[in-house]
Amino acid sequence: MRFLTSKRRHKAAKPVLLALALLLTGLLYAAMSPAARVSADTGNSALVAEGDGLFKVACASCHGLNGEGGTQGPSLIGVGAASVDFQVTTGRMPAARPGAQLPRKTNTYTAEEIEALMAYVATLGPGPARPAPAQYDPAGLTEEEIARGGELFRTNCSACHNFEGAGGALPNGKYALPLKGISGEHIWEALRTGPQQMPVFNASALPDEDVRAIVGYLEELHATPSSGLSFGGLGPVAEGFFAWVVGIGSLVLFSVWIAAKGARAK
Ligand code: HEC
Ligand code: HEC
Repeated sequence: MRFLTSKRRHKAAKPVLLALALLLTGLLYAAMSPAARVSADTGNSALVAEGDGLFKVACASCHGLNGEGGTQGPSLIGVGAASVDFQVTTGRMPAARPGAQLPRKTNTYTAEEIEALMAYVATLGPGPARPAPAQYDPAGLTEEEIARGGELFRTNCSACHNFEGAGGALPNGKYALPLKGISGEHIWEALRTGPQQMPVFNASALPDEDVRAIVGYLEELHATPSSGLSFGGLGPVAEGFFAWVVGIGSLVLFSVWIAAKGARAK
């Protein structure tokens, strides 16, 4: 390629090369991006249109007319149907007003409307689809697999959700929720989409078998009554509070006692 190294190479060589490189990148991207998922999701155009309508009414004010994001809400491009199902069925969305953490609320949408919203958001970009029961249902797990779920839970989740899955406080007025009674489907969706302060656990970090094991463990944990002094399973905050009250309280009493004795000795 002498023309590239020679000093007298054509002035247009650089821009042309750049344009070629860009074109190649574009072609590669188009060939490699997972378009199949998107087109599969857009199959039902009536449902997508219904979802689009619902979205414009209840969601666009924060998330932008086309889900591109706005000052009051993040972009929903690529968050996937799983995120919509989780956020809407648990009543987090539509959010009412900004706060430290958007709370669970009663969901007012019908199952079909949620399907429509999911179908619409799925057209914005590929993301986790709603899981099939085989991906989260713990039915048929052995005791060893459930015990492994317990280990996975203690390693990955208990720092925020407490050892008994009872939830706990996080800095700045945020909190990790108790996990009692949460369906396997919502656990899967929370892991794959990482709501608010929760990190995303994708399939390479925690494959579906691991999620099933964790779901199985949580179901078993919450079906058996806890043993010992559990402080209502309230976790490190309650335990810290207990230590504080008992510990500092006895120190205070002790110093009052010393002061009283000292005064008498004078
Ligand atoms: C008042 C503003 C507001 C409205 C209205 C609203 N959202 Fe949101 N939404 C937010 C904010 C803020 C977040 C980000 C929460 C966070 O992660 O801290 C969010 C997050 C989400 C997410 C999670 C995105 C992710 O990264 O996984 C989804 C999905 C979502 N919204 C869907 C909807 C849908 C569907 C509607 C309408 C039914 C809606 N939202 C209405 C403000 C809003
Ligand atoms: C860094 C802290 C953190 C870690 C680690 C974490 N979570 Fe969470 N989790 C949260 C927070 C905060 C919320 C609340 C988010 C919200 O309300 O949108 C949450 C919410 C959830 C929910 C939804 C509960 C509900 O009421 O809707 C589930 C399910 C969940 N977590 C499961 C898990 C599991 C299982 C793990 C371990 C694999 C885990 N989390 C690890 C912080 C964490």
